[in-house]
Amino acid sequence: MPRFLSIINQLPLSMRSSDSAANFFAGGLIARTVGRYEHAALPMVDLLSGDTGVVLDAGCGADRTTIALGRALRSERIVALDRCDSDYIEGGGRALLEQNLRLAGLTGRVDIELGDLTALPFPEGRFDAAVSAHAIDHLGLQKEQGLREILRILKPGGRFLLIVWVPGWTMFAIVSVLALLFSGKGAWRRMATSAGFELCDEGMLNGNWFVVLKKPVT
Ligand SMILES: C[S@@+](CC[C@H](N)C(=O)[O-])C[C@H]1O[C@@H](n2cnc3c(N)ncnc32)[C@H](O)[C@@H]1O
Repeated sequence: MPRFLSIINQLPLSMRSSDSAANFFAGGLIARTVGRYEHAALPMVDLLSGDTGVVLDAGCGADRTTIALGRALRSERIVALDRCDSDYIEGGGRALLEQNLRLAGLTGRVDIELGDLTALPFPEGRFDAAVSAHAIDHLGLQKEQGLREILRILKPGGRFLLIVWVPGWTMFAIVSVLALLFSGKGAWRRMATSAGFELCDEGMLNGNWFVVLKKPVT
């Protein structure tokens, strides 16, 4: 067990839980004050080489990222994939996705697919580009498998915008020392290159880290 966890374990349970609750509340308040979370903010990156294409939003949740993509990339088709079983997103389900797309005026351009990020229901080379925000970091020990699946379904030269929460001040403000359990930028870079991607670009936006990855043209 890491040393910091054994130190935390020695504190009385009441102290641990009230400290975490206060931390979570204050951190969440700070994070919400500095960012807008009802809309996804996407970094301005070079995702598609041509004017048209099919883009995958992998782990679309309630479609925040899909809608941001639909507004940024006006002529592309988008496939929004999720398991649709996340109760923490206002009930999760496909009906919520359909409703949000309808409200955003994107129903005609987005196909919803149910599926698992670790075994995507698409043939090799189906997509021109892919985006995944705050989803692959939910895969535990299967994060690299998730990255391999994105690599497989991209065309050679296809780009992938990955957005994840990495340890930093915002995360530390919210989850305290538990931030040490999250994968950092270096770990993500290593997983991406081990999965077979080339690194093209990276940066921070709203306290989140983004990286643009490319499937090599062999
Ligand atoms: C925090 S939400 C992010 C949603 C969205 N990308 C956004 O930024 O608002 C994470 C999403 O990943 C999905 N997810 C987690 N594990 C998955 C898996 N193995 N296969 C498909 N979707 C998964 C969850 O259902 C959830 O909708």
